[in-house]
Amino acid sequence: MILINIKELVGIEEQGRLMKKGAEMAETGRIKDAFVCIKGDKIVDYGPMQSLKPEQLQVENEVLDMSGRVVMPAFCDSHTHLVYANSRELEFVDKIRGLSYEEIAKRGGGILNSAKATAAASEDELYDMAAERLNEVMRMGTGAIEIKSGYGLTTESELKLLRVIRRLKENSPVLIKSNFLGAHGIPMEYRGHQEDYVDLVINEMIPLVASEDLADFIDVFCDKGFFTCEDTERILMAGIKYGMRPKIHANEMAISCGVQVGVKYGAISVDHLEQIGKEEIECLKDTETMPTILPGCAFFLNLPLSPAREMISAGLPVAMASDFNPGTSPSGNMQFILSMACIRYRLTPEEALNATTLNTAYAMGVSDEVGSITRGKRANLIVTQPMTQLEFMPYYYGTNKVEKMILNGKIV
Ligand code: NIG
Ligand code: FE
Repeated sequence: MILINIKELVGIEEQGRLMKKGAEMAETGRIKDAFVCIKGDKIVDYGPMQSLKPEQLQVENEVLDMSGRVVMPAFCDSHTHLVYANSRELEFVDKIRGLSYEEIAKRGGGILNSAKATAAASEDELYDMAAERLNEVMRMGTGAIEIKSGYGLTTESELKLLRVIRRLKENSPVLIKSNFLGAHGIPMEYRGHQEDYVDLVINEMIPLVASEDLADFIDVFCDKGFFTCEDTERILMAGIKYGMRPKIHANEMAISCGVQVGVKYGAISVDHLEQIGKEEIECLKDTETMPTILPGCAFFLNLPLSPAREMISAGLPVAMASDFNPGTSPSGNMQFILSMACIRYRLTPEEALNATTLNTAYAMGVSDEVGSITRGKRANLIVTQPMTQLEFMPYYYGTNKVEKMILNGKIV
């Protein structure tokens, strides 16, 4: 397949870098009037139209005219909780009336509300709901996604959620990574002795999850009112023993030790960071850990915005993901995240593109395969509706500007 007459091809990474940090975040290859050549599921070539040899067109079985369209790498969404049973719009109203997220959680709402509904739902029901959401976000530009468990909070329900994610992996053209987040909330019956729940996660859940090879990553909600630093360390060590790489929920409610613990255990990412100070920024420098901001959550809960510009000035990479979940970010629309990155976090469109493609691909361990226009990478591309250039994408916010998705070299 060959795409020709592309108005602008963006997100090109020639050097094969696996992430971009600091000033590099502003770098992205752009070609006006371009072509992309795809063989099987891979990008094999691209360049300006004038360098395309006429014989190349004759050997192609499919030539697609992309006149007036921008072509860019599909979004990678490195942080979602999209397998859940019930929406929580009544808690949304409670929040409007003045209750905080923590207050709702304390009285058994929030994550525990979702866990109750998950326990009552069958694997098939959960699968159907999640598949529909996955299809929805794919239509809005997502080509790779990380999905967490965490609305189970019992061994049986956590396994049920992870088996749903495995089925999504098998059936969807979207590249999926799974994350075991048994330590997402503290069940009511463990209040006051949460270390017993941590024991359950470590001694029963993790070995079973590993025995079915259900998780690529291990996650903990390390925050005020949730899991402590000590809980987090214990769980991460157990997960690592079974081959799961850490990713952490840190510093959403308060500055905790989440960033430091994540870095100490080689987390691939530390996520949220609505609360982050100089010490945490210092701690993240020259590490393999991707700081990941979740603009949808800050927007939905009216939280302080992470100092993305300060982080970039300090030389850090920044990734931005959706956090799609029923409680704090009921949207997996990565085009909105791209717009938020520019409008509220003051990233330029190029920086925002890197934050939502290559850097999020890194944060889910797949940036050698997806996240940029690079020869040899999977052909996971967005073809936009008619538009002039990349900048239009974050600027014209609030509508779906994806015309076609190409995943693994095929229009889906
Ligand atoms: O990433 N912070 C923890 N977990 C989710 C929210 C879960 C929920 O409220 O259902 C998050 O924001
Ligand atoms: Fe989350």
